[in-house]
Amino acid sequence: MIVDQASSLRKMNQTKLIKVVAVTGGKGGVGKTNITLNTAISLAKQGRRVMVLDADLGLANVDVLLGLRVDKNLSHVLKGECTLDEILVTGPHGVKIAPATSGTQSMAELSPTEHAGLIRAFSELRTDIDTLIVDTAAGISDMVMSFSRAAQDVVVVVCDEPTSLTDAYALIKILNREHGVFKFKVVANMVRSSKEGKELFSKLSKVTGRFLDVALELVGVIPFDENVRKSVRKQAAIVDAYPSSPAAEAITEFSKKLMSWPVPSAPGGHLEFFVEQLVSRNE
Ligand SMILES: Nc1ncnc2c1ncn2[C@@H]1O[C@H](COP(=O)(O)OP(=O)(O)OP(=O)(O)O)[C@@H](O)[C@H]1O
Ligand SMILES: [Mg+2]
Repeated sequence: MIVDQASSLRKMNQTKLIKVVAVTGGKGGVGKTNITLNTAISLAKQGRRVMVLDADLGLANVDVLLGLRVDKNLSHVLKGECTLDEILVTGPHGVKIAPATSGTQSMAELSPTEHAGLIRAFSELRTDIDTLIVDTAAGISDMVMSFSRAAQDVVVVVCDEPTSLTDAYALIKILNREHGVFKFKVVANMVRSSKEGKELFSKLSKVTGRFLDVALELVGVIPFDENVRKSVRKQAAIVDAYPSSPAAEAITEFSKKLMSWPVPSAPGGHLEFFVEQLVSRNE
């Protein structure tokens, strides 16, 4: 029976490859959650089947941002009380959200084994998705590292605030030196012009270029836009509430770029989300 289930899951996964992107940044308040949600919703509007993992386990807010009612969350999955599919809530345009818990200390202090347990829980997912976007917490905790490492692409969000670049650098350094990640996508958020976005990127790539062996790519420049805050107050996504605002247009452009990133066809030899889809393809 169990073998049957495993093989049918594997068959299911052979037919589709799920893209997994982690959104991170080191510093708090740079716009990770807003970028995650709006990218997810924008992708859903373009016909993708998208899921958001709210991996900010200490202080959840993806559901709050959208005014969604949540009964169960990742802590119940971890305790074995329910499956990942059972905690999913549906947001705008059918985006599935795996909610974290709100402010529970014990969840913020999960062990690396528990992070691995959560990542593996995705292999049992039955909900049909083609894209998973992981919203990580601020900082450079083990949890941020585990979830970023397990994704196929790591998006580092930076903005023009004093510690954003140094925090982003610290994050990239640890992911590179301790976890073997060498490719990073960068999004400059809350910038006043695209020139400012490019300058932020070039400052970051200068330091990484001097001290680390990593490849950075600027994949998005999102302007500072009052409509972001306005839509947060409305508990709506800016791509829905103000679709032709500058930030919404920049996020839509970013989401189109994201769709073009290839999904790796072989496992990387470390713990990855949906790793079995790659293993089964190579059997
Ligand atoms: N492009 C933008 N223009 C204007 N305001 C923005 C923009 N992006 C984000 N913000 C605002 O910045 C604040 C922080 O955004 P957000 O919560 O997405 O950041 P975060 O990186 O997820 O924070 P945390 O580290 O606390 O999880 C919010 O008030 C949000 O409305
Ligand atoms: Mg956040």
